[in-house]
Amino acid sequence: MTVIPDIPRERLPSLLALMPKAELHIHIEGSLEPELIFRLAARNGVALPYASVEALRAAYAFTDLQSFLDIYYAGASVLLKEQDFFDMAWAYFERAAADKVVHAELFFDPQTHTDRGVPMQTVIMGLAHACRRAHAEFGLSARLILCFLRHLSEASAFQTLEQALPWREHFVGVGLDSSERGHPPEKFERVFARCRELGLHVVAHAGEEGPPAYIESALDVLKVERIDHGVRCVESPALVQRLARERMPLTVCPLSNVKLCVFPTLAQHNLPALLDAGLCATINSDDPAYFGGYINQNFLQTFAALPQLGAAQAHRLAMNSFEASFATAAEKARWAAQLDEAFAEAART
Ligand code: ADE
Ligand code: ZN
Repeated sequence: MTVIPDIPRERLPSLLALMPKAELHIHIEGSLEPELIFRLAARNGVALPYASVEALRAAYAFTDLQSFLDIYYAGASVLLKEQDFFDMAWAYFERAAADKVVHAELFFDPQTHTDRGVPMQTVIMGLAHACRRAHAEFGLSARLILCFLRHLSEASAFQTLEQALPWREHFVGVGLDSSERGHPPEKFERVFARCRELGLHVVAHAGEEGPPAYIESALDVLKVERIDHGVRCVESPALVQRLARERMPLTVCPLSNVKLCVFPTLAQHNLPALLDAGLCATINSDDPAYFGGYINQNFLQTFAALPQLGAAQAHRLAMNSFEASFATAAEKARWAAQLDEAFAEAART
């Protein structure tokens, strides 16, 4: 068992910022900053219903998941060309590298684009080129996860999978996102079974706004390898025990949860309880351009709001992010060693 060096609380912010970490829950369309939305709109001749960057940002006051999704899908309407998808992902990678992200698994929502007539190839190749360059320039390993929009039909998900298969080598898995309530995992049982047959990793959003029963069916029906969000699991102690026993990762997004009113404040977030229950919880940014911060801001603000979280929890969260990733055992071992070195360095200085 790793002994975590004693780190005084005042050194925690720099340790959180400098420690290596993996980001496993980032919707790349949710990294589209208002400035880039306006730049792409001008480049592509797309009219926006907002007069300025400030007016758009002022509209980012959400009451629930749906109120966010409406504006998020509208923002993505400026993405038309392969270069647009590249530019969006590259802007994310520059920020991620600065935040000491060594590995990122990016969600993308092809239906948001193909339903507007953008070819699947344009979406995937723009993102894939940015992933390749992130590795070349920053040594950051990046993977893509194709998400099905759960408010659309099973038939649309199957069609999306078919359209993406010529670019199968460029994505490692599939996920399930968008409006959770009223769209239970069962709706996608057959398409997820097909994805598993194809050797794709499978994850799903569950228990963000939806009930613990949706987490159970994501596990039992979709047979997912990670739960995205999952914070409502605490409403079922038996489910919490199961998640701990199975070491089922939860990709938790604290700033998102507050912005979408899942928790009233960060100080009331249940991340400490999830860690105390032995769950493989991780910290992620979800849609950083909309929720007020990238991954390091999620770490910094969450730790500042919750005094129960200290150096041991920081180490645990980073280790969990490597464990929960779809990277190789050799990569995970290398990042774990880098993490221990960052803690040893923080203890020395
Ligand atoms: N799509 C982008 N962000 C999402 C979230 N937090 N929940 C569900 N779908 C999403
Ligand atoms: Zn999400």
